[in-house]
Amino acid sequence: MDRMIIRGGAPLSGVVGVSGSKNATLPILMAALLTDEPIAIRNVPRLRDVRTALDLLSRLGVDSRWTGDHEIELKASRVTSHEAPYDLVKTMRASFFVLGPLLARTGSARVSTPGGCAIGARPVNLHIAGLRSLGAKIQLRAGYVEAHCDGLRGARIWLDNPSVGATENILMAAVRARGRTTIENAAREPEVQDLAKCLGAMGAKISGAGTHVIEIEGVDKLHSAQHTVIPDRIEAGSLMIAAAITGGDVTLSNASADHLEAVSAKLREAGVTVRTENGGIRVSTSGALKPVEVRTLPYPGFPTDLQAQMMALLTQAVGTSVITETIFENRFMHAPELLRMGADIVMKGPTAVVRGMSRLQGAPVMATDLRASMGLIIAGLAAENSTEVSRVYHLDRGYEALDNKLSALGARVERISERLQ
Ligand code: EPZ
Repeated sequence: MDRMIIRGGAPLSGVVGVSGSKNATLPILMAALLTDEPIAIRNVPRLRDVRTALDLLSRLGVDSRWTGDHEIELKASRVTSHEAPYDLVKTMRASFFVLGPLLARTGSARVSTPGGCAIGARPVNLHIAGLRSLGAKIQLRAGYVEAHCDGLRGARIWLDNPSVGATENILMAAVRARGRTTIENAAREPEVQDLAKCLGAMGAKISGAGTHVIEIEGVDKLHSAQHTVIPDRIEAGSLMIAAAITGGDVTLSNASADHLEAVSAKLREAGVTVRTENGGIRVSTSGALKPVEVRTLPYPGFPTDLQAQMMALLTQAVGTSVITETIFENRFMHAPELLRMGADIVMKGPTAVVRGMSRLQGAPVMATDLRASMGLIIAGLAAENSTEVSRVYHLDRGYEALDNKLSALGARVERISERLQ
């Protein structure tokens, strides 16, 4: 398994571009199932999760081919299978997002439930309840969701919490349901908005994406379309925090500032200079970092996917910060690894108290999930000596060519590839 070795202490500086959003790309790829015509997607990041999604779609009969470095064309002329197998769904939870489109296209689906993961139980009850409201007959059998419908019909759906995946699964089913669907308490994330924009280009009739109420007027058929994926706000936020912890000066040339308002506000509160410049975001620091309170919330609040990265930063603040994780029940696994590097963090339930001014020492640490691994790398960038992060395959799921991007900004990062013996 590959490792990443970071020699800390180098301030990051320069200009870097962020890749297309992983969490927008994944549901958009699944949306190809909704039409037998080709769809062309641009700004697709080269990620492990994208490969997994394409593998799953090919098993369902979807043809896909790269037409450029970051451009892909998909065509679901006919769906040859209705099954999303456990071996794939367990490696990537977003595979579960094929349920809605498969039901809408073929009237049947057998999709493995994703099961829990490192950060939490991650149930799918809201996905199932929403699809049942649209008329699907769904039962759970031997770890699989077995779903059938003779056509879907519009309904008014209320989500208990603004689940991103449930909103996306229901949205992709509702666009081809008969009649009107209203999703109340819908997720507002930019990735949901990007999916809705792509579906609209395919002929879907959607209004309200990005608000808590999404209205869909079902249509019989969707057609070919082209779509360019939004920049990845979580990669952008991760690089902003990396610049801040190293006392650097970094410009993210194509990041969407309006997707990062909560993050920029929190970084400014911590004493970081964040400016929007020429369509991008410039981050620099002058002087000490101040402690802050961070509470993760659904968009537009502070994103849970940047909580680990923020925790690494706040180990350097002059004072005590408090982080409350409200989205997932077990998303502090990076904290024990940060403690091994000399951080001073006390956790109690969903809250972590981060006492600052820790002199971080490089150490061998282990990544447990995609965003935790980024938090450890960020800590390594500020630590004395070398930090060795193992299991960086987690990183490859969500960060494209991260070592190259960090090295180009002046980080002393080396990736050690270990061929399996
Ligand atoms: C999406 O996951 C993202 N993944 C996650 O990013 C992100 O952390 C999360 O949204 C929250 O923003 C993708 O978009 C592929 P949720 P998702 O449904 O859809 C509970 C990353 O690192 N819930 O919004 O699975 C759930 O347990 C990943 O890129 C139910 O109770 O998240 C959680 O507590 C990690 N029942 C909360 O809602 C359900 O049916 C939010 O989950 C569904 C969710």
